[in-house]
Amino acid sequence: MVSWALPSIGFYLTWHVECFTDKGKGEILMVKLKVNGIDRTFDGDPNMPLLWYVRDVLGLTGTKFGCGMALCGACTVHKNGEAIRSCITPVSAAAGGEIRTIEDLGANGLHAVQQAWMDLNVPQCGYCQSGQIMQAVSFLKSTPHPTDQQIDDAMAGNICRCGTYQRIRQAIKLAAGKIA
Ligand code: FES
Ligand code: FES
Repeated sequence: MVSWALPSIGFYLTWHVECFTDKGKGEILMVKLKVNGIDRTFDGDPNMPLLWYVRDVLGLTGTKFGCGMALCGACTVHKNGEAIRSCITPVSAAAGGEIRTIEDLGANGLHAVQQAWMDLNVPQCGYCQSGQIMQAVSFLKSTPHPTDQQIDDAMAGNICRCGTYQRIRQAIKLAAGKIA
């Protein structure tokens, strides 16, 4: 917990300082975007990572911080239906877009991918799983009948330290069968 929390806190403090400085200069910063179907306006530092915005500003903590460098996939959300790494995406890059987080995925009943995850007991510690699911949902939209190789390629950027890769692959195949 501490290893990932410390850089998070460090960035948060830095961000607040920068934000204060910008306001001190009289700059007006405004980013409009939609998150989980709700219109939002953000008037802070437009360079703030989207991950901090959804977690620390909106309180949507289902999206996780892992590496902060687009290397693990824990922070995966959707922008206009496509999986993106929110840790390296500035809020400004989401302007005018539709962001979807794990909290919205099952808002009207479990998504087929979430159901498959439950049916096959995919998670172990669970930390990586919201990112895995968001990646899988986006992947299945573009590839509804995936081969094992296509699944492995699409999910290669999502790391699971518990090694649940076999069950992730099975669950994606199970969900694909139900969506198609
Ligand atoms: S936290 Fe974004 S990819 Fe690891
Ligand atoms: S379930 Fe523990 S890191 Fe993936």
